[in-house]
Amino acid sequence: MISTCSLDTPEVSRVLERLHREAAGQKAAFVPIAMHWGLDALLRRKPSVEEEARRFKDLYIPLSPESGRFAYLVARSLGATRIVEFGTSFGISTLYLAAAVKDNGGGLVIGSEIEPGKVAQARRHLEEAGLEEYAEIREGDAQQTLADPGGTVDMALLDGWKDLYVPIFELLAPHLRPGAVVLGDNMKTFPKALAPYAARVREAGFRSVTLPLGSGTEFSVKLP
Ligand SMILES: C[S@@+](CC[C@H](N)C(=O)[O-])C[C@H]1O[C@@H](n2cnc3c(N)ncnc32)[C@H](O)[C@@H]1O
Repeated sequence: MISTCSLDTPEVSRVLERLHREAAGQKAAFVPIAMHWGLDALLRRKPSVEEEARRFKDLYIPLSPESGRFAYLVARSLGATRIVEFGTSFGISTLYLAAAVKDNGGGLVIGSEIEPGKVAQARRHLEEAGLEEYAEIREGDAQQTLADPGGTVDMALLDGWKDLYVPIFELLAPHLRPGAVVLGDNMKTFPKALAPYAARVREAGFRSVTLPLGSGTEFSVKLP
């Protein structure tokens, strides 16, 4: 018997393919952002979470398709029914996770996004894929919006600003069930910024490996 995988339904795959295609066409838009970063470094200033989010307001910066499928499979193998996501953007990763929750028999992905325009679009994309009942996107700073995930969490995906992985991990760790998995994206892209996270997750007693998947995926398990 072949079991259900919502990612392969036309409804979901059409939306995901379109969004990944749009994201792949945005490479040139990173040039002005790199210039902003250069200027920040020169002036020794750190933009606020909101300011950085505004710079990226039109950019997807999503999980790669293979990282998205991996997140889906992890969620399926855990039988996850409550998943928390730090950094929703236009909802690509949310679609993979919501599909998994649906295929697990129901549950909720709690997304978080600070940029209001992205929240609206992510909700639209979930509706378009017929997955809206499996995801709730919380608008605002995840440091506040994710403080109460509403129950025990099976899995978390960290994909927001990199200097917040540690505080968001600290926020979520008490809510994670034994055996829960935390995926951290971009370990390869931002090795220096994410070194404190890689260290902290281990110190906290999680067993963790950095996988050469997509832009580098930290796979951490809260062992039972
Ligand atoms: C790399 S993107 C997320 C991509 C998304 N996971 C996907 O696969 O499509 C990071 C997003 O996190 C959001 N973000 C960053 N810091 C945040 C915070 N403190 N609270 C809520 N959202 C935040 C940004 O606005 C941005 O849209």
